Amino acid sequence: MTEYTTFGIDLGTTHSCIAYVDRSGRPVVVKNEIGAETTPSVVYFEKPEKVLVGSAAKNSALLAPHLVAEMVKRDMGSRVPSDRVYHKKKYTPEEISALILRELVRSTEKNDEFRVKDVVITVPAHFGIAERDATRRAGEIAKLNVLDVLDEPTAAALHYQTTQSGTGTRHVLVCDLGGGTYDTTVIRLQDKDFQVISIAGDDKLGGADWDERIRDRLLREFTAQHPRIDPTADDVFMQDLMITAEDVKKTLSSKQSHRVGLRFGGVAAQVEFTRAMVEELTVDLLDRVVDVTKRVIDAAARKGVREFDEVLLVGGMTKVPSVAAALQERLGLETRLYEPDLAVAKGAALFAMISRAKRGAASTQQTADDLGISVGQAEAMISTNVQRVVSRGFGVKGVDPADPLAQTRPMQARQIVVHLLQPDTPLPADSGPYPFMTVADNQRMVEVEVYEQAGLVPSEEVADNTKIGRGRLSGLPAGPKGMQIDVSFVMSETGQLSVHATEPSSGAELRFDLQIGNMDQRAIASAQAGIAKHDVSG
Ligand SMILES: Nc1ncnc2c1ncn2[C@@H]1O[C@H](COP(=O)(O)OP(=O)(O)OP(=O)(O)O)[C@@H](O)[C@H]1O
Ligand SMILES: [Mg+2]
Repeated sequence: MTEYTTFGIDLGTTHSCIAYVDRSGRPVVVKNEIGAETTPSVVYFEKPEKVLVGSAAKNSALLAPHLVAEMVKRDMGSRVPSDRVYHKKKYTPEEISALILRELVRSTEKNDEFRVKDVVITVPAHFGIAERDATRRAGEIAKLNVLDVLDEPTAAALHYQTTQSGTGTRHVLVCDLGGGTYDTTVIRLQDKDFQVISIAGDDKLGGADWDERIRDRLLREFTAQHPRIDPTADDVFMQDLMITAEDVKKTLSSKQSHRVGLRFGGVAAQVEFTRAMVEELTVDLLDRVVDVTKRVIDAAARKGVREFDEVLLVGGMTKVPSVAAALQERLGLETRLYEPDLAVAKGAALFAMISRAKRGAASTQQTADDLGISVGQAEAMISTNVQRVVSRGFGVKGVDPADPLAQTRPMQARQIVVHLLQPDTPLPADSGPYPFMTVADNQRMVEVEVYEQAGLVPSEEVADNTKIGRGRLSGLPAGPKGMQIDVSFVMSETGQLSVHATEPSSGAELRFDLQIGNMDQRAIASAQAGIAKHDVSG
């Protein structure tokens, strides 16, 4: 019997899901031990080195909120320290994510047919280089072989394509509104070719923001009815309130109104919610959803794509009727709810198979045997081509040539980030040489500082970008200022960035790959060993 070893994992902010491709070539979600297709991305640190992950952890959040880690995806790749401490031990977001991955693996491997080894993990399309790298590392810390990290909307589109019978070119807009992120992508599908046209997203916009608004309203109503009682210092009550808020939101997806009872400090309060009320509380969040969607549509239009054959809604939050309604009313989009909880994991499973098949050095027959699929399916996988794009702008800091001080006192002149790679450039991408100049006479070296767009749209303001790396080009020949230094960026198909700088007359050159985060192989090995010691269960 062939073991299944290749899996796709949707590592979500609030729920995670794991899928594989069965022998008939169909992606299938593996249910967890309690028969659910998704597992809450929640970790309860019950004792030192003993954790519960999933629904059990979510339930424990009520008893001991200080021992529960939630929403860690929002901290992945963060530049500000975002370790959390449980039982006096510090955990990075990558390590907590690794614990979630370990639970998915454990629960999957309960079935003897499955051994989870090679995986593709999905990420929001708008994730930057550090966030992607952190996701890859989380997989490594969980001792998985991460074949690739794939954008969530692209994964959903890949799954969609395999369910379509017709041929010909199709343009699909995918809108993925999950628990923590909103992500949109326009993709051109043509037989076995997937070409990403444009992406836009906001990785701080998701269902949790709706929940917070509802929670705040619940709290206001409670204190209005009981002005002398302040429950905000009570962690357990506040945690419970968040769960109630999410429940209100979900209930209102199918009902028009919902009444909840709150109890604290020996008193009770009743709060009545209607759909309209929640819509009013969250109107700005919906505005942001519309804005991001408009941006992706405009970017696609600039590349000549003005019509969509399908607008797919994925992510649990798209079950809230006002999301589809806003996209329809304000942008004229006819949407379709498309396996909102599962499409991403299923697409990731397909992509994992494709990646494995493409890497197979052996014959197609051998690849088919290895993967437990037919030769025809192996051929189809190998010929599938997924073309991705640069997710954000990448550039170099330099003096703004438009500032008059640039000529006279360059050290005091305004500095800007010149983006060498623009978002939505097809990968692999090569910026070609971009000429910078030295700013002082006899300048013998230059610092090449690499920046990544931090906000939702590219901006040359240094404050709107994040420094992600630097290198020093030294050994420059003596000479007057204004000596040309050519800098070029190359980004690989999988998003790895390398930088090249030369001074053409002397041939002095600098090459470096972006080393993101501060974990080298030794640190990863040590994190692996630490996480492996944990007793993980669901
Ligand atoms: N029936 C429903 N009605 C309203 N909201 C729902 C419903 N079901 C799920 N949700 C919401 O969807 C969100 C979770 O969606 P999903 O599982 O797709 O997110 P995720 O993949 O964990 O997050 P992300 O993609 O942002 O990393 C939560 O905010 C949840 O409350
Ligand atoms: Mg998701």
